[in-house]
Amino acid sequence: MKNILVVYYSQTGQTKEIARNLIQPFEDKKQYHIDYYQIKPEKDYAFPWDGKDFYNAFPESFQQIPVSIKKPEEKILNTDYDLIILAYQIWFLTPSIPVNSFLKSEFAKKILHNRKIISVISCRNMWAKAQVKTKTLIKNAGGNLIGNIAFVDHAPNLISVITISHWLMGGKKDKKYGIFPTPGVAEEDIKNASKYGEIILRKWEENDFQNLQKEIIATKGVYLKPFIIFMDEKANKMFQIWSTFILKNKKTRKVKVRFFKYYLLIALFVISPIIFVIFFLTSPLRKKAIRKKRSLYYSVN
Ligand SMILES: Cc1cc2nc3c(=O)[nH]c(=O)nc-3n(C[C@H](O)[C@H](O)[C@H](O)COP(=O)(O)O)c2cc1C
Repeated sequence: MKNILVVYYSQTGQTKEIARNLIQPFEDKKQYHIDYYQIKPEKDYAFPWDGKDFYNAFPESFQQIPVSIKKPEEKILNTDYDLIILAYQIWFLTPSIPVNSFLKSEFAKKILHNRKIISVISCRNMWAKAQVKTKTLIKNAGGNLIGNIAFVDHAPNLISVITISHWLMGGKKDKKYGIFPTPGVAEEDIKNASKYGEIILRKWEENDFQNLQKEIIATKGVYLKPFIIFMDEKANKMFQIWSTFILKNKKTRKVKVRFFKYYLLIALFVISPIIFVIFFLTSPLRKKAIRKKRSLYYSVN
């Protein structure tokens, strides 16, 4: 019997559903036993999000400041898992606070140490730099990352910002005004997540995990648009400045968070379309650099 653990956190259920569908091919086989471990912060984050709480989560999220999480069951802590699936979402270009808190905890050191891990991302579309952070956290916990798959919203960037805000703050995964696309990862992609479970299962049975990520890349299990990489890198620099600034003085936090909100909206809806045009016009000059960056972000090392 081989043991698999699925570690996840999920507010809307999207990340959980993707993880469950992905692992389905293993559920169908008798020789695999699957446990699920849901990360539970001592004080969980409310869903739907209140606008103020949403932006207020930014500095701790970006600076990867952990919160206390509930202890996993003894069975989870004491089983030697043959494979661990870490299904997580991105908050402010960083693994979400609950996931970051787990990865930094003593529990993670016990559960992940010397284990093979496959990360499964479910987010809007900006995961490149967050996955670099996650790789470091997994390494620090003693885990061995062997694969990564990213599920994203394929709608144009600004449309996906509008629709995800409608979903996260309204609580319903439906079309804003009846005309915008449905937010989040497409239903079809969620349903077909098992396709990657089948790849993992085949690679396991062929004893060929070394080539797992190669196959995930070939089947577009990870894909980043050049402009998204560019924005992610630039925004990380700005977020570093903003989060440090907000955390500096507790008394002025509220007003600084409000300014951050306006900054973010202007950066997204005014500045980013202008930069996009410049980026598009100069893109032939960047082909080599983009290839290099993609191979860095797609890699599990
Ligand atoms: C506070 C917050 C910040 C987010 N920031 C990002 C982000 O920077 N990049 C991104 O692609 N998605 C971002 N998302 C979307 C999430 O990654 C995720 O897709 C969504 O919250 C659904 O996940 P769930 O399974 O927890 O419900 C953010 C969501 C929240 C709640």
